[in-house]
Amino acid sequence: MKNLTADQLREMYLSFFESKGHKRIPGASVIPENDPTVLFTTAGMHPLVPYLMGAMEHPAGTRLTDVQKCVRTGDIDEVGDAAHLTFFEMLGNWSLNDYFKKEAISWSFEFLTKHLGFSPDQLSVTVFRGEGREGESGYIPADEEAVEIWKSMGIPDERIFRLPREDNWWGPAGTTGPCGPDTEMFIDTGKEKCGPECRPGCHCGKYIEIWNDVFMQYNKNAEGKFEPLGRHNVDTGMGVERTICMMSGAPTVYDTEIFAPIMAKIDELRGTGSGEQGTDLGEEETLRARRIIADHMRTATFILCDPKGGVKPGNIGANYVLRRLIRRAVRYARMLGIGEGFTVKLAETICEKYSHVYPELKANLEQCRIDLEAEERRFNATLDKGEAMYRKVAEQLKLHNQTQISGKTAFKLYDTFGFPLEMTVEMATKDGLTVDKEGFDEANRKHQELSRTTSAGSFKAGLQDNSEVVTRMHTATHLLHAALHKVLGPTANQKGSNITAERLRFDFTWPEPMTAEQKAEVEKLVNQWIKDAIPVTKKMTTVEEAKAEGAMALFGSKYGDQVSLYSIGDISKEICCGPHVENTSELGSFKIQKEQSSSAGVRRIKAVIGNM
Ligand code: SER
Repeated sequence: MKNLTADQLREMYLSFFESKGHKRIPGASVIPENDPTVLFTTAGMHPLVPYLMGAMEHPAGTRLTDVQKCVRTGDIDEVGDAAHLTFFEMLGNWSLNDYFKKEAISWSFEFLTKHLGFSPDQLSVTVFRGEGREGESGYIPADEEAVEIWKSMGIPDERIFRLPREDNWWGPAGTTGPCGPDTEMFIDTGKEKCGPECRPGCHCGKYIEIWNDVFMQYNKNAEGKFEPLGRHNVDTGMGVERTICMMSGAPTVYDTEIFAPIMAKIDELRGTGSGEQGTDLGEEETLRARRIIADHMRTATFILCDPKGGVKPGNIGANYVLRRLIRRAVRYARMLGIGEGFTVKLAETICEKYSHVYPELKANLEQCRIDLEAEERRFNATLDKGEAMYRKVAEQLKLHNQTQISGKTAFKLYDTFGFPLEMTVEMATKDGLTVDKEGFDEANRKHQELSRTTSAGSFKAGLQDNSEVVTRMHTATHLLHAALHKVLGPTANQKGSNITAERLRFDFTWPEPMTAEQKAEVEKLVNQWIKDAIPVTKKMTTVEEAKAEGAMALFGSKYGDQVSLYSIGDISKEICCGPHVENTSELGSFKIQKEQSSSAGVRRIKAVIGNM
């Protein structure tokens, strides 16, 4: 095995596939351009879907190769182990109805063994085992063709694993589009099997997946059925970080040259924090915390510096994912005794490491600094307050010789001070205390019920000043906002709203006129939610807490210490003064009357609700 840098690996890969007739194309933005089905680009296929479907011809031809920045947060809880990351680079080669299995597999094998120097003995592969019965609908045969090709490369049958759809099928998650069986390549690290069932795909760390060749022969249609696509595409993806890790023999991706400067910076920053933080983490927890900080800050930096832009720490969709990454990094940094301002310092290190490959990092660093700084400061303030309150609670308990924080108290810390339950548990564990988590859930539930009653009260009170129809319009506005997010994505944010007894008016950020389909879809969603008779609840909380729960708010607005948070089932959560109806069924039918430009980059919808 060679010990390559990521720079060398990218170049070797792209030129290898150039030598096989592929054209280099640039990778896409990590914030999807035209795909509302995903919050981030999770694979190289997103920008290539129209070409994979055969809807149009790619200007660079039928054989393409690229490097794609990917963000996947589905496995966020596994970050910190040897191989999981929320951001990674994926090398890809593509056949747009050109070559198929034989070429794809034999080139993968050639590159892995001849160019990267892996021994064929280190390789284990998986293939799709098929499903259904021949002659019956839904039948998809096992991929024996791939098995035969691997055998002809010298991979023995015992290292070819035939696995079901969960393991060996690739396509856009949960949506329609091109897809098909795949064959995945794993490096056997030589570790002991974790048990008799241990095989590639097992998470114990014996087998690390580094490459996946997808044979896109199918299209998943709107009914969820797989119909032959009538084309044979290949979509392959090789993970840069994992491959470098396996080649260098490093125990984890964080021990590679890729992460070296980031980890070094984290260590340099330790001890810059104040107080007693960071003194009592065990060795394993410390390791994990360092990795989580490194991973999350790398992802956050790439998102904030993305050339498409538009994702900022916030409360919904992609904005929320970004906020969660930054806030998680802040929490772990505090545990390690890393002082304020670390997010910006790490972003600078990451920018230095990558900007020769991704110039957008340098170009957008200034804005990235501003956003990180603000978010770190906001969250630290919340945590400071929460921690101080927690300490008071802990002292009281000690004074009374008690060892358990009641559910009610934990809930108060959460509800009033925005202090996450997991932090209470964490701090309590360190202090030798326990937390009544069931009691917490119970308190949470009671609070919700109580809020509903109060909301009924304030609803009645509100009627004195607000005509009934305005109240209904008001709730319809929340539903409209939620529907716009669903249909247009998280960037369709409220800019303003104005309600009279005749109509509601809603301004939101969106660069172009909505299509007829989009308008119809929004109407359909709102009317469906009205039909679903969803209860509207209200609770009093703090702005920080409401935002932490994912509530929408008008940014830039000034809110008092306590705000009311209105929830419509799990459809919508907004900080708002109300009043609102108690149940969406009170609204009557919803109709968009007009959708027009309001100002640059802002659209305006006028809508009405019919009488009940
Ligand atoms: N899209 C496939 C994957 O992510 C191969 O590129 O594994």
